[in-house]
Amino acid sequence: MVRFPDILKNRLESLQSAFDYAIQSRGYGSHYQGVYPVKCNQDQKLALNTVIVLEQEEELDMIIDLSKKLCIRPVIGFRAKLRTKHSGHFGSTSGEKGKFGLTTAQIVRVVKKLQSLGMLDCLQLLHFHIGSMIPSTSLLADGVSEAAQIYCELVRMGANMRVIDIGGGLGIDYNGSKSSDSDVSVGYGLEEYAAAVVEAVQRVCDKRSVKHPVICSESGRAIVSHQSVLVFEAFGGNSSNAATTNALSSLLGLQYLLEGLSEGVHADYRNLCATAIRGEHDACLLYIEEMKKRCLDEFKEGSLGMEELAGIDGLYDVVRKAVATAEESESVRTYHVNMSVFTSIPDFWGIQQVFPILPIHRLDEKPAVKGVLSDLTCDSDGKVDRFINGESSLPLHEIGDGHKYYLGMFLGGAYQEALGGLHNLFGGPSVVRVSQSDGPQGFAVTSAVSGPSCGDVLRAMQHQPELMFETLKHRAFEHLREDSFLTAEAVTSGLAHTFNNTPYLVVASSQS
Ligand SMILES: Cc1ncc(COP(=O)(O)O)c(C=O)c1O
Repeated sequence: MVRFPDILKNRLESLQSAFDYAIQSRGYGSHYQGVYPVKCNQDQKLALNTVIVLEQEEELDMIIDLSKKLCIRPVIGFRAKLRTKHSGHFGSTSGEKGKFGLTTAQIVRVVKKLQSLGMLDCLQLLHFHIGSMIPSTSLLADGVSEAAQIYCELVRMGANMRVIDIGGGLGIDYNGSKSSDSDVSVGYGLEEYAAAVVEAVQRVCDKRSVKHPVICSESGRAIVSHQSVLVFEAFGGNSSNAATTNALSSLLGLQYLLEGLSEGVHADYRNLCATAIRGEHDACLLYIEEMKKRCLDEFKEGSLGMEELAGIDGLYDVVRKAVATAEESESVRTYHVNMSVFTSIPDFWGIQQVFPILPIHRLDEKPAVKGVLSDLTCDSDGKVDRFINGESSLPLHEIGDGHKYYLGMFLGGAYQEALGGLHNLFGGPSVVRVSQSDGPQGFAVTSAVSGPSCGDVLRAMQHQPELMFETLKHRAFEHLREDSFLTAEAVTSGLAHTFNNTPYLVVASSQS
């Protein structure tokens, strides 16, 4: 995993500038404050300026009790359950029946309780989160307007409101299509997002004569996705011909189309099936052409009906399509890759999200091969066979003998690391941090941390690698013969090496 803190900085600055511009150009009367939702990528640093945000009504009593005990006046906010519903994949927790936040009735009760305790001045922030990957600015504006109305109502009821926190949801365009109909794309950029938010808050507040609040957002994936690239080695693999057999053998069930046709047509069909089973594409095409021609001749002679001719035309199309599919699938190679899908791209497996993946070198050479990726795990789902734009394979290069071939997976900086588990005992990858520098290369590696070793992942699964090591060593010594070319030291260091090394493939020279 290569992390680029400068890209992270650039994303933060770009988001800040987008809001600054939207605020200045519209004469909005307050400012923007970004907040980082640490759950998206735990690698980021925290600065504390604490507002306690209620997710549930019952939490209020706890805050009141504790603040009395600690003699502090808390700054309180709450998350509102908006009625606006996000229709995409990530919208299932939004809307009236959504999982999080306070309903209108609960909001009213919270305000009343704080008022009765003389603590309404503590209520300062309104939060909501429409859902991740908000597809369009129209949906965004709808949700923000609803929230701005709640904000103005809170002001009217006497709360000391200062901040509207619009949550996350700023989407990124994983597949480059700029589409609001896709779960992996959005139809807007940072500028349009900021403009829609500022415009909606301003319009509602101006209408209600309410002072413009500080606008706070908690964008996660839009900030951290771009900053890390997963680099992994690919090894040449096999082509697959399972699909060939499947596609062509489906011809065998079409016998019914031949009812009442001449013996010549039946003979063509038998030949067609035999060649299909043997996977002989050219011969298949030859027999179906012959069959079609024979049927046309018989039709012209008046010995074949129009329905039968139409049936044979249909069969012709099916065969041509099956042959094309077979040829396509035969030309797709499986590249074995030195990573785990479950650890490094869990959303690919879990929610079928696609990420940009491409070779990171030989980019001046046209890729001549189509490939799918098969990971190191022994799990049959450990493969990447869906790519951007609905492609079922990736243009890749032929791997030359003795040459390394590396691929990069991009835009995975949000959620993937935190989600990834230890499935099949593969832990996270080693992490390298690369920053711009004034040196001759223009960049510097500022830190490099190895991923967990086999011993580490065994320990994480409650095994005892030290005990396992000692037991294995003891058993190996018991069987070590006097005349063996192996020494006790070699056995010990070989075993230690197994426990201390990464579960991923490593080249022999770097093992020492
Ligand atoms: C409350 C809240 N804020 C912010 C975020 C970050 O969302 P995103 O990564 O879509 O920007 C989430 C994600 O689920 C969230 O639940």
